[in-house]
Amino acid sequence: MNMRDSEAVAAQLVEKGYSLAGSEHSADVILLNTCSVRDMAEQKAIGKMRNLAAEKRKFRPGVVLGFMGCMAQSRGKELLDQLPDLDLVVGTQKFHRTAEYITRILEQRDGAICDVAEEIGSEATIREHLLNGKDVKKSATAFVSIMQGCNQHCTFCIVPDTRGKERSRTIPDIVAECRELVDRGVREITLLGQIVNQYGRREFGVENGKTAFVRLLEAVHEVEGLERIRFTSPHPKGYGVDLIQAYVELPKLCESAHFPVQSGSDRILKRMHRQYDVKRFFSLVDQLREAQSGMGITTDIIVGFPGETEEDFERTLDLVRKVRFDNAYVFKYSPRKNTPAATMEQQIETEVIEQRHARLLGQVNEIAAEINQQYEGRTVQVLVEGESRRNTERMMGRTRSNKIVIFEGKERHRGQLMDLRIVRCGSFTLYGDPAIVNLESSCTLA
Ligand code: 5AD
Repeated sequence: MNMRDSEAVAAQLVEKGYSLAGSEHSADVILLNTCSVRDMAEQKAIGKMRNLAAEKRKFRPGVVLGFMGCMAQSRGKELLDQLPDLDLVVGTQKFHRTAEYITRILEQRDGAICDVAEEIGSEATIREHLLNGKDVKKSATAFVSIMQGCNQHCTFCIVPDTRGKERSRTIPDIVAECRELVDRGVREITLLGQIVNQYGRREFGVENGKTAFVRLLEAVHEVEGLERIRFTSPHPKGYGVDLIQAYVELPKLCESAHFPVQSGSDRILKRMHRQYDVKRFFSLVDQLREAQSGMGITTDIIVGFPGETEEDFERTLDLVRKVRFDNAYVFKYSPRKNTPAATMEQQIETEVIEQRHARLLGQVNEIAAEINQQYEGRTVQVLVEGESRRNTERMMGRTRSNKIVIFEGKERHRGQLMDLRIVRCGSFTLYGDPAIVNLESSCTLA
């Protein structure tokens, strides 16, 4: 979501005549988009800004420095007091005003600016994309923000504070954005929201047994020329049969799900205010795999939540072994400002959290490698996204199940659907070989 917000701000600036700098060293304006989910992310952003501020004082007096996003929202003016060289603080409902504020600062009409106010309708303002242009290579994939905010109030999470109440865009507005993206060459769209399956539930409700989110998926599915649809992230609560059925009925909907579980212990899930139990999670995973056997499933897990005993942790390990996730993001619990969990009793010692983190990560990686191994020798369809990040001589694509595949390809393959035969598997990456001469294939072989 932060990547998407940053892109929208960059696109607004480009539209106003600014151009993207090759690196921060040559930039006239440097904006750091921030995450507040864990304290470490905030400390990193502050450390980075301190370095930039020191540079500004010594060699670059004219450079404009700004914070955007969640930490900007939650700390606001306090950041300007803490960092006197900072020019701009833009909250999560004000991304669309960034260009205007920068112009004002550059024209020296204002001193520092801080805007973290709420704004009605701000959910529909993150719509500009940087696709292909002077400074940007053609993109085959795009993210589309369908809603903002969250009303779930998990006891560990700062997001309801930083992103505000749940607000959804309309279906026609989202579809129009998708259509425009496809007209500009995009073939895969990922719909984004804090809890996507809650999309429009108050605004648009259920019709003919279908939630607003499933109706949105169907409407996006109609967009001609679009090949693939993904979404992230759903929540097990309110994950209905209509959404499971969508995987059967909508061929463009890819067989992959990022499905945060957070813990394998019912006691901890309750303390987290997740509103589902392990049994329900297992049942959803079974239904997803029944709907599509090649389903890639990833998750988020927090270790060291207050009160987590060795037994609770063992249950998480057990869940991971039973579900066999394709991958999992394992987070060390980090107490956040104004969240119920931060003041709960039985906070867990850092050392214990570190140990559990290492143990769980070891288990997750072992299973991920075993699952990847099963791809060896199989032929899979990938959408080629561009150069491999590690080795720009190679190209990178993703399978429908969301596995990254690296192969010897050329720039002309960018944006193509290709069949690749998997010849080697690492823990996180697959290595492929073009399988057939026919590069354009819309059938799925794996
Ligand atoms: N501490 C650690 N991890 C957290 N997450 C959210 N809040 C916290 C926290 N306070 C994790 C959750 C969520 C992911 C985006 O970040 O696992 O799904």
